[in-house]
Amino acid sequence: MSNLENTILVDLARKLFRGCTNFHIEPDSVKLMTWSWQELFVDLTLRSPVIKKYPISTELSRIFLKKLINCIEPVQEVHDNLYAELCRAMNNSAIEDYCYRHYVISNDLNNIITMKETKNMVVNGTTGMRTWEAALMLSDWILCNKELFSSKDVLELGSGIGFTGITLAKFCEPKSVTMTDCHEDVLQVLCENVDINFPSQCKNRSSDGTTYELDNMLRC
Ligand SMILES: C[S@@+](CC[C@H](N)C(=O)[O-])C[C@H]1O[C@@H](n2cnc3c(N)ncnc32)[C@H](O)[C@@H]1O
Repeated sequence: MSNLENTILVDLARKLFRGCTNFHIEPDSVKLMTWSWQELFVDLTLRSPVIKKYPISTELSRIFLKKLINCIEPVQEVHDNLYAELCRAMNNSAIEDYCYRHYVISNDLNNIITMKETKNMVVNGTTGMRTWEAALMLSDWILCNKELFSSKDVLELGSGIGFTGITLAKFCEPKSVTMTDCHEDVLQVLCENVDINFPSQCKNRSSDGTTYELDNMLRC
């Protein structure tokens, strides 16, 4: 696969992982979405182990796949696996309170932070159940300035479900990260997201919160 084909694949995969359905594909890019490109795209996204374990919203994948197929269909043959995944998404009409979104770090499809979150911005009177665009921007900045956080005790106020703090704990080698929020439901999903992204870590629950023993320390 050429560099350009790979760039198009990673860019589109990042959008699907994030549940972003508002994308545009240039006509020149569609020409590069050959049969083998499409097969690899499905294998690396909808059929990848991480998506099988933590599925993205079927509603969002349905919208995404319809749009992608509509782009490809006039230009070249659409791969059976794309149609099969669309059928699967259409057959599954369960109402989802939560879904998973996957955020690709540094354009590396093997380097992913998975978040359990809601599709709606406001749920149960809180704005904290979804990862905000601001959290993504702040995390990008943090990843560009890792040295500022190395060996530091970091306190995050109003962490929501935890994307920024988890990114920092995973990539910046802080001494400790303490994530806080005032909403009980948000705190519960925050802990689930820490469990997902640090699966084999020892944790202690107390009335003060939950502490995870990582190489460094993570509290929420
Ligand atoms: C807009 S959300 C942002 C969540 C997250 N930082 C993000 O960017 O994805 C604001 C969060 O701050 C929390 N919050 C608001 N006031 C707070 C307070 N006084 N103490 C702790 N958390 C608070 C809310 O519960 C909510 O989860």
